[in-house]
Amino acid sequence: MPVAYGLETFKDRTHERAEVMARLGDPRARLVAIIGRRGIGKSALAAKVAEQLASGAGAEGRAWAGIVNVSSRTSGISLERIFHDCARLPGPDALEDLLEVWTSQRGTPDKVAQLFAALSGGPYLILLDNFEDRLDDRGELYDQELSDFFEAFFRTRHGARILMTTQVPLALPPELRRYQARLYLDQGLPVPDAVELLCELDADGETDIVRASQQDLERAVRRVHGVPRALELIAGALSEDYLTLPTLDEVLDTFVERGDVIAYLAQDRFQRLDAESRLVLEVLAAFGRPASRDAVSWVLGPLAPDVDVPAALARLASHGRMVTVDRARRMFALHPMDADFIYGELPRDGLLGYRSLNRRVADWYARQKPSRDRWRSVEDVQLHRYEFAHRIRAEDHEPAAAVLDEIDYFLTWRGSVGATKDMHQQLSGRLRDDETRLAHLVGFGVALLVGGPHRQAAQVLGEAADLAERLNDQHRLAQALFALGDTYRQLNQLDEAIGPLRRAVELEDRLGDPERLLRALMSLSLTHSYRGEVREALEVADTMRTRALERSDDLGRAQANDSAACAHLASGDWNRALDMARAAIALYEEVGVTEALGYVHNVQGVAFLGLGDVARAEAEFLQANTDGAAVGSPRTEGICLYNLAWAHWTVGRYADALTAAQRSKSCFERAAATGTEVADALALAARARLAGEAGEAARHLRAAAEKSRGNADFVPPAWLLAEAERLTAESTD
Ligand SMILES: Nc1ncnc2c1ncn2[C@@H]1O[C@H](COP(=O)(O)OP(=O)(O)O)[C@@H](O)[C@H]1O
Ligand SMILES: [Mg+2]
Repeated sequence: MPVAYGLETFKDRTHERAEVMARLGDPRARLVAIIGRRGIGKSALAAKVAEQLASGAGAEGRAWAGIVNVSSRTSGISLERIFHDCARLPGPDALEDLLEVWTSQRGTPDKVAQLFAALSGGPYLILLDNFEDRLDDRGELYDQELSDFFEAFFRTRHGARILMTTQVPLALPPELRRYQARLYLDQGLPVPDAVELLCELDADGETDIVRASQQDLERAVRRVHGVPRALELIAGALSEDYLTLPTLDEVLDTFVERGDVIAYLAQDRFQRLDAESRLVLEVLAAFGRPASRDAVSWVLGPLAPDVDVPAALARLASHGRMVTVDRARRMFALHPMDADFIYGELPRDGLLGYRSLNRRVADWYARQKPSRDRWRSVEDVQLHRYEFAHRIRAEDHEPAAAVLDEIDYFLTWRGSVGATKDMHQQLSGRLRDDETRLAHLVGFGVALLVGGPHRQAAQVLGEAADLAERLNDQHRLAQALFALGDTYRQLNQLDEAIGPLRRAVELEDRLGDPERLLRALMSLSLTHSYRGEVREALEVADTMRTRALERSDDLGRAQANDSAACAHLASGDWNRALDMARAAIALYEEVGVTEALGYVHNVQGVAFLGLGDVARAEAEFLQANTDGAAVGSPRTEGICLYNLAWAHWTVGRYADALTAAQRSKSCFERAAATGTEVADALALAARARLAGEAGEAARHLRAAAEKSRGNADFVPPAWLLAEAERLTAESTD
């Protein structure tokens, strides 16, 4: 029977298992080889397949008459071992004869011929585990006896099949290659399986693993690419270092430098390579993703002019896939785990250190990246992002910031605000040049304004404004102040919002960019509306209209009407609010600007509620929700779902109100924007109302009213308070 360790904790590999089974079932494939790097799980996969076959499961159309397992890790793979194990397969009589054959003075070819003659029945499965021990780096056999064995195996008729696991595929003459099916096991375990395995490896719950959050565990398994042996090494390092008791983070941080890890996982074949091949591997490791031959040549060119890159790549790709090739895309890549090890050994400095290599890789992407006029979607700035990542790795933060400055607004406004924030985060505190730092702070702040959290946006933008002031950079100052004021508005800190917005308006007016002026005016007008300063809000909206008309700017007119609609809404003038909102929608649609549509439909919804037309209000909120989702603005969705919940409430549909309020809450959470608590309070009120607890419902309604105060996008708090009064009266009756 197969040596089957770790089979109880075996994870996933369903697809790979089915594939091995299918190949074994194919009569043309005499030898099925599972090929892959050390520790990826070849032996475990083969053992699992053998176990399945032995138990009769999954043996479609083929009942195996016998299975033997020969492993270099147990008895060692030799002809003697294979011969004796296989001799048992056909039964006691044959065994007797074959043992005699072995002890006789015949030559090896003769002995193996006798063996295969005896194996004419079957089918029999011979599992040769860890076969790379018998092969050199080119896949040639060391051992003449085994060569004779394979010669007979491939050239005579018999009922035996071999399942082999190996890091290097067995080299065969061309005429025999069609009998060998190769399955490459390149991928680690999928994240959920890997996390499960990692937890099971800490069955006693003694290490940091039990305390780690799901997120930490996922990060840990990603860090080691889901390679099962690496997971075991993590668990081992955590439980065996009694002296230092390292944390999961510490183990991960030092992972590629640990001697035990390298000993178990690094391909020692890399150490035996010639200097040229080694250099090419280092460049691929610096890329850390598939790279073309041209890319590798270009990077290496000035650093090591004598290297014949195409020849070295061809060598690496042919010898047991130390490098894998994507033939269709003509790209070369290292297994990510090998890339980590090789990268981990690079020195920091020097011509061939990691800084220099990364700088060169970044330069390669900088040459390839498309110009502004060719950007359509976030995919089109992928090469910029690669360039950024390699500048960071080269520790060239200023140039990295310059790349980010090219793309951050584009990314932020095309839905990838998370990526923008992430990149800015990597620059935080690392920039010495003031101009560069200012550009970074403004870009970061705007990304945080769009993607939240708003508290951090306020802090970063405050810093940006101070620096802009100090450097006397009026453009950036105007940008920072506008974003700061708008952040405060969205944080509902309306008193703080007014100052920066007024100054932004002044500056933009002087700088003469009409679009940005209008944007600042609009935020100012909305802030006045939120504060209940209807007259001021309408005045600002009038200024906007005048400015827009002067330049026949339809977008500006749309924004003026939009702002006026909010002001009328704040004063409870529902009909005027509706008129202005309709005009705004028509103009927004005319100029094809969809970002604001959700908000305007929301205004209409609230106005319809004010007029007592619940059905039309609901329709508007739903439309607003669709519009918000279409432009990826969870905050818009959160607001109109809250209002929709209230609309349901007013006609006694409390269950629907509960659902809508809960959805609202999760939208606010996604937006990392204020509003979560407001939605939560309304949801709690609806739940209490459904349970018939009127007093409780009233209490939560009051909380929702209180928390939504100052944001005119929400239905007026007075409505909720009136309902709370009614409920209180009802509950004390
Ligand atoms: N799918 C899997 N689920 C759970 N553990 C696995 C899985 N694959 C491999 N392992 C474990 O990871 C370690 C390395 O696997 P192994 O099969 O020996 O790798 P390889 O033969 O490729 O070097 C073994 O201890 C094995 O039990
Ligand atoms: Mg193995």
